Amino acid sequence: MSRFSCEGCGAVALKWQGRCPSCGSWNTLAEMGGKGKALADFPAPRPLASVDTSERDPWATGIDELDRVLAGGVVAGSVSLLYGEPGIGKSTLALQAAASAGSCGKAVLYVAAEESAAQVSRRAARLAVPVDRCQIVATTDLAAAIGAAASVGPDFLVVDSVQALSDSNLSSPAGTPAQVAACAGTIARLAKEDGPATVLVGHVTKDGDLAGPRSLEHLVDTVLSFEGDRHHALRSLVATKHRFGPAGEVGMFEMGTCGLRTLSDPSVLLLSDRRPGAPGSAAFPHAEGRRPLLLELQALHAASRGAAPRRVAQGLPASRLALLVAVLEKEIGPELSGGDVFVSTVGGVKVSEPAADLALCLALASSFAAAAIDEETVVFGEVGLAGEVRTVPGAVRRLEEAARIGFSRAIVPVSTPEVPGVLLERVSSLAEALAAAGVFPPRRLRPFGPAPAARVS
Ligand code: TYD
Ligand code: MG
Repeated sequence: MSRFSCEGCGAVALKWQGRCPSCGSWNTLAEMGGKGKALADFPAPRPLASVDTSERDPWATGIDELDRVLAGGVVAGSVSLLYGEPGIGKSTLALQAAASAGSCGKAVLYVAAEESAAQVSRRAARLAVPVDRCQIVATTDLAAAIGAAASVGPDFLVVDSVQALSDSNLSSPAGTPAQVAACAGTIARLAKEDGPATVLVGHVTKDGDLAGPRSLEHLVDTVLSFEGDRHHALRSLVATKHRFGPAGEVGMFEMGTCGLRTLSDPSVLLLSDRRPGAPGSAAFPHAEGRRPLLLELQALHAASRGAAPRRVAQGLPASRLALLVAVLEKEIGPELSGGDVFVSTVGGVKVSEPAADLALCLALASSFAAAAIDEETVVFGEVGLAGEVRTVPGAVRRLEEAARIGFSRAIVPVSTPEVPGVLLERVSSLAEALAAAGVFPPRRLRPFGPAPAARVS
């Protein structure tokens, strides 16, 4: 049966129409391949138990943190999407991985669709990585890239970037959803048939969308998000989808003058500049990925000079900050929300989990009260709208990491189990947490529970 696909939005229709039923563009439906196949041309079903899985074992690229995120390395025939904001270091990581795979004896092909071969070669020289086993082709044409792959027969294929490639059979320009989907789809089929472990590099904008990479997530086996603040050296690599192992693993890198350096113990680095006895700081065991990471959260409460007090959050969700300031105000008083509030994560790490709520509240209260939280204490817990402290996942992993780094005390939700080496201060409310941290006079401390009935005069 014939099928038609829209060159504008990629939608598929069963019959030709002048106007795409999905995006409304005129004259964009084109017939897809696969017409007239006999039944014998299709693969026959076979018992699932008889499928050979041996060739699907991952092989290590030699970049430790990348291999860790990929649960051992890349898999032959798989396609990974490496996406992130422009300038974050995707090409650097891809080239380092390519060079390392080459040194491990793998045949490598680097398709440079954005840069010239000379630019990539200069970057390799700057990174001082051995590239004698890496072949490069600088092209934006999908057919040329596939031709190069056919002649090299690579074990490891990098396409940098998939948005810059275009299929000349389509009339839409490079970077449009139809082009990106067509190029990625063709390369994915090539990977499945010929077996190279393939990395597609893709850009996203600040708000995380762009027609390209996000729409490819269903097409690829692995989605790797490369994150960080361009003004900081720290970069994190997160597998948000992984068909060959657990997703959510985080790899940490430091961008330096000679490229990306893997960080095997990032917690130590992240806490290295912490100033003991400084108000406005709380240590938080972050566990958004599988590996916990000790972070410093900082807050500053300052007198407001504008008409409306400012709320600035770096590395943390601004909406969460606004909510927590309102909740904390109930405990501390209106003086808190009348001032400017600035909060940030140290090292440019992004934290979106609500487990950081309590640490953020205590850091802010600490700045407001000009009283430091004990430097050996870590804090985690979600804070509800009524000021209650709620359980968060991964409590044991967080405490074990804190104990390993040398923290001896933790302010945590009530249900948190014991972990050797850490004294737990279990709290059920924000008021109890403020008292446990010693950052606010206990005069306002009241037991968590229903408010006393209003007195009738
Ligand atoms: P790049 O890998 O080109 O980013 P992307 O492909 O994600 O757009 O790297 C971009 C930044 O990294 C660039 O601003 C320079 C910096 N950089 C270093 O700091 N050190 C290095 O060794 C390299 C190669 C790049
Ligand atoms: Mg790049």
